[in-house]
This record gives sequence, structure tokens and C-alpha cells, in this order.
Amino acid sequence: MISLKDQCVMVTGSSRGIGAAIVKHLSQREVRVAVTYSSSKKEAQEIFQELDGSGHLLLELDVTKPESITKAFDQFMAHFGTLSALVNNAGITKDTLLLRMKNEDFDSVLKTNLYGSFYCSKEAAKYMIKNRKGNIINISSVVAQIGNPGQANYVASKAAIEGLTRSMANELSGRNIQVNAIAPGFIQTEMTKQLNPKQMEAITSKIPLKKLGTPQDVAETVAFLLSSEYITGQVIAVNGGLAM
Ligand SMILES: NC(=O)c1ccc[n+]([C@@H]2O[C@H](COP(=O)([O-])OP(=O)(O)OC[C@H]3O[C@@H](n4cnc5c(N)ncnc54)[C@H](O)[C@@H]3O)[C@@H](O)[C@H]2O)c1
Repeated sequence: MISLKDQCVMVTGSSRGIGAAIVKHLSQREVRVAVTYSSSKKEAQEIFQELDGSGHLLLELDVTKPESITKAFDQFMAHFGTLSALVNNAGITKDTLLLRMKNEDFDSVLKTNLYGSFYCSKEAAKYMIKNRKGNIINISSVVAQIGNPGQANYVASKAAIEGLTRSMANELSGRNIQVNAIAPGFIQTEMTKQLNPKQMEAITSKIPLKKLGTPQDVAETVAFLLSSEYITGQVIAVNGGLAM
């Protein structure tokens, strides 16, 4: 197994779900991580206490607020002295059918998922360019590829994240910075707990591997990308075969 020891990684929205699984898994691989939260400090503290090893950091970071991002990266650099990777994981949904979707709900999903990834990547790139090394991993979704009724805002944000990924990968490749996305399918988290049993059954029946993924499946893919020095501009699907 390739060692990830002493990489220093910022993970947005890591107080629960996939983000929490990423920080926990990376800490087991001897990575030093920043667990970040926007509103749920208590949950983040609990995750922080469950990490393996020492030297990690707990930070407030709201991805919709550039001043919060700058402050969090300043604190990160003061603590670790370097930034190996950023995982843009924070994301929200505000699902409803197109004609019922309020403009504010379209804006707020784009603001968190897309703008948040852009703001954080720009801040991270400042440090990575100086260091001539870095890794940015954006968390997209299978729905970016296949669409989903009731998720126009979310799907638009994730499809845009994949375009952002390819553009940043091209632009930053000359500075030895890799940029990739992971597109999970349906993963067992609070986000998918909102689905009723009928919706869950309908989804599972369409997945070739006939099961939902786990946050651990995504966390292991993050670790894989952190171990690679020759993958950039790609979207890695972790979806049980849902889209192929
Ligand atoms: N669960 C799934 O099935 C699934 C599938 C595909 C993609 N994803 C993506 O994976 C990522 C994580 O999803 P999850 O299922 O763990 O969701 P979740 O709702 O459990 O966690 C999302 C995290 O983002 C944080 N967050 C929300 N707004 C924020 C803000 N403004 N600033 C900082 N943090 C903020 C939340 O506090 C939370 O910690 C998201 O980008 C989501 O779109 C999830």
C-alpha cells in the first residue's frame, strides 16, 4: 500500500456523512486532516475525537463565505505549514420539481455546491502553486451524468463541478497540481435517509450491484487519488454500476 503518511488534507463539510468517513479513513492512513464544520460544531468535535493519530485540526469553515474560507486556510497553514490536498465535499440538496423550485433554492444549492468548491479551490491553489504540488478532489454525483427529476439545482451544480474539475486540471497541471472528481452513486448517509422505502426500492433495483454504497467506499477512493501522481482531470465513478 502506498504511504500517505504526513500528507495534510483539508476536507470541507466533514462533521458527518461522507466527509466524516473521509477524515476518519485518512487518519487511519496516517494523513493529518482538518475536520471542518459550518454549523455543527458538536458533531465535528465528536468526529475529531474519533480520529486516529495526532496533530489534526478542527476548524470552522462555511464554504459560501469567502472570509470564512480565507480564515480557515490561514489557520490550516499556521498549524500544518503545508497543504497537500483539498477535498471539496460540502454539499446540500433542496429537492423539488422544476415548476415548484424557488429561485432562492436554485441559488443556494449552486452557492454551496459549486461556488463553495470554486472559492475553496482558488484559496487552496494559492498555496499549492507556491509549493508546485497539490491535489484537489471535488465530490460530484452520478446524477451529473444521468440527471434526476426534482433535482435541477443539485444536478446543475454537480455537472458544473465536473466542468470546473476539467478546467482546473488543465490550468493547474503545469504546476504539478492534480484535480479530479469523485461521482458517488447512492450512498448510505443522512442525505439518502430522506428517501422513502418505495424510492429506496426503486433505486436499489436499478443498481447493477443491487446495494447502496457506503461512505467508506468514497473515502477509499479519496485515499486512492491521494496515492496517485498520474491521474488528473478525471471523474471517478463510485456507483455500483448505476451509470456505465
Ligand atoms: N449521500 C449520497 O448518496 C451522495 C451521492 C452523491 C454525492 N454526494 C455528495 O457527497 C457530499 C457529502 O454528502 P453527504 O451524503 O455526506 O451529505 P451530508 O448532508 O451528510 O453532509 C454534508 C456536509 O456538508 C456540510 N455543509 C453544508 N453546507 C455547508 C456550508 N455552507 N459550508 C460548509 N459545510 C457545509 C454539512 O454540515 C455536512 O457536514 C456532498 O457533496 C453530496 O452532494 C452524496
